Amino acid sequence: MGSKKKVVLVGCGGISNAWFIPSKEFDDMEYVGLVDINVKNAENRRKEHSLGDDVVVSADLGDVLDKTRPDAVFDCTVPPAHCEIVTTALSKGCHVLGEKPMAETMEQAAIMVKAAKDNNRIYAVIQNRRYDKNIIRFRDVVRDDIGNLTTLNADFYIGAHFGGFRDEMDHVLLIDMAIHTFDQARFISGKDPVAVMAYEWNPPGSWYKHGASAACIFEMSDRAVFSYRGSWCSEGMNTTWECDWRAIGEKGSALWDGAEKVSGEVVVGTEGFSREKKPLQVGDAQELRFKGHGGLIRDFLDAMDNGIPPQTTCEDNIKSLAMVHSAVRSAETGTKVPIEY
Ligand SMILES: NC(=O)c1ccc[n+]([C@@H]2O[C@H](COP(=O)([O-])OP(=O)(O)OC[C@H]3O[C@@H](n4cnc5c(N)ncnc54)[C@H](O)[C@@H]3O)[C@@H](O)[C@H]2O)c1
Repeated sequence: MGSKKKVVLVGCGGISNAWFIPSKEFDDMEYVGLVDINVKNAENRRKEHSLGDDVVVSADLGDVLDKTRPDAVFDCTVPPAHCEIVTTALSKGCHVLGEKPMAETMEQAAIMVKAAKDNNRIYAVIQNRRYDKNIIRFRDVVRDDIGNLTTLNADFYIGAHFGGFRDEMDHVLLIDMAIHTFDQARFISGKDPVAVMAYEWNPPGSWYKHGASAACIFEMSDRAVFSYRGSWCSEGMNTTWECDWRAIGEKGSALWDGAEKVSGEVVVGTEGFSREKKPLQVGDAQELRFKGHGGLIRDFLDAMDNGIPPQTTCEDNIKSLAMVHSAVRSAETGTKVPIEY
């Protein structure tokens, strides 16, 4: 364990609890400041998590950075604020770990990647679904047991009645949710996106204003294809939030229900209409030291000591963000869109 890192957390809303709770386990960090444009939210979090009166609370990030000189900033603000918060923190010499999605536009994301490089600091993005023991188990089966991956499918069907901003926003499924699934697809396949053809619709009876359902076909590197079907206004027979997955390789196929169940079959026969198959013996999932947000925060803190970048650095995560924005553009234009980042 390295030296104790001073941390300022910005944006003390709903998701910040998913940061405060696991970070209590880490002796090598301490909060020195909390920032929120609604100062009351920061005061409440300081109290709820017993952080002590010496933790500075303010609405002004620049002021808190000057007063506390932290090693790192955690950005839990809303997407329109991410670019300014992250670039301000990087320019003050802080490493940054921030909430998904990186930015609202690819232009902003490029500015953030450049700021991390220019200031020689880490900027990594939370993709908590990578820190799940079962996705790792599925990824290992896909990588090791079914031969060269040709096809990956994900289904996401949830009837989610959030209320609030999601009901009113455009492209709600692609912009607010699909980043998780698209990043999972990159993690599972180990492949990068090349192009996308997307169709988006708002089904009759939808309680959202726009784009509650979408279907996307991605060309990935090595000629693999990733298909996504999703809906946030799908009542009954819901999938998990982690999706229902099928992976097809040259020697067999594997399934994951997004929860505990990973299974597969590989071909062993060489003759007949339907070749003989045998079920894969899928081992138990290995327990993780820290899961979800806690896993990523741990890797981020370690990276500040050992220089080993977390897996979701901005240079990597911009590829998942590009899948989202290219899918939106494809849905809007009705054309196949190359994915650039
Ligand atoms: N990883 C996940 O599974 C997951 C889940 C939910 C939300 N999120 C992401 O977390 C982020 C925050 O979502 P939330 O649900 O906590 O939203 P929220 O609205 O509950 O909280 C956001 C907080 O940020 C504050 N804020 C807004 N702009 C600010 C600024 N410029 N400076 C300082 N504070 C500012 C708000 O006052 C509010 O307290 C979003 O990017 C969202 O996509 C991630």
